[in-house]
Amino acid sequence: LSSMKLPSRPELFDFEGVSMIHYFTDNWEKVKNFQARPDDILISTYAKAGTTWVSYILDLLYFGNDAPERQTSQPIYTRVPFLESCFKPYFLLSGTELADNLPTSPRLIKTHLPVQLVPKSFWEQNSRIVYVARNAKDNAVSYFHFDRMNMGEPEPGDWNTFLQTFIEGKRVFGSWFDHVNGWWEKKQTYSNLLYMFYEDLVEDTGHEVAHLCSFLGLSTSVEEREKITKGVQFDAMKQNKMTNYSTIPVMDFKISPFMRKGKVGDWKSHFTVAQNEQFDEVYKQKMKNATVKFRTEI
Ligand code: A3P
Repeated sequence: LSSMKLPSRPELFDFEGVSMIHYFTDNWEKVKNFQARPDDILISTYAKAGTTWVSYILDLLYFGNDAPERQTSQPIYTRVPFLESCFKPYFLLSGTELADNLPTSPRLIKTHLPVQLVPKSFWEQNSRIVYVARNAKDNAVSYFHFDRMNMGEPEPGDWNTFLQTFIEGKRVFGSWFDHVNGWWEKKQTYSNLLYMFYEDLVEDTGHEVAHLCSFLGLSTSVEEREKITKGVQFDAMKQNKMTNYSTIPVMDFKISPFMRKGKVGDWKSHFTVAQNEQFDEVYKQKMKNATVKFRTEI
């Protein structure tokens, strides 16, 4: 990781019908032709839905005991490569290179791509996929603060400006609505996909860890699961330099930390009554054919 200064914030553009920035399309040929393996586990989310949380849970489930130095010296974003990312020359390796160089198996790989842009080898290899979805309101708030502090993201503007662009699908990785619905539809025909909710993870982390184990065919002991459940709580991950992103220079934690609040319902301290009414109206329209149900409070 180089300490060079980033150029100005990237501009959004249309990429195959999805709003993107060049950091996630510069390496597209390699992404598109990426060779998945049958034992790969793809962690997929709309940005800010709990990617890091689930990445860390899976990393502990698979590698928590056999490689102590992995836990103390390797940040989660190198253990779990971000498939489409290409921040060269700031990061020396692209996501596909990091993934291809991973020494361990199974490989845990992260993506924010909408389902139609996922490299086809994942489907051909029947790789397992863990999708995490978060309710739109909290997801938007988290994304707003992330874009404020991350110079590798387009300018968010003020909260209202951000919210309007979020509604229009004009944020990186496109529309939240298309993303959660596209992946939900995929789940109906692709059986190696587990569709999880951030709200369930907050409500009962241990239950979701057990659910992950059964999906992945892991026979992790109750004691081990309890230890992991404790280690992945918000405060523990916020203190942990390997999971709190404090080692990344493009993020300004004085503006907002990566591990920000970790709550369900923080949207209530951001949405005005008018914004909430507008959002509910849009939501009703855009989700009218959707069968996936979200909780905005627990
Ligand atoms: P907030 O900004 O609402 O706090 P991602 O990893 O996909 O970028 O998602 C980041 C969001 O997940 C942030 O939400 C972050 O605080 C939250 N998060 C990460 N680890 C968490 C944990 N252990 N418990 C609860 N929330 C967590």
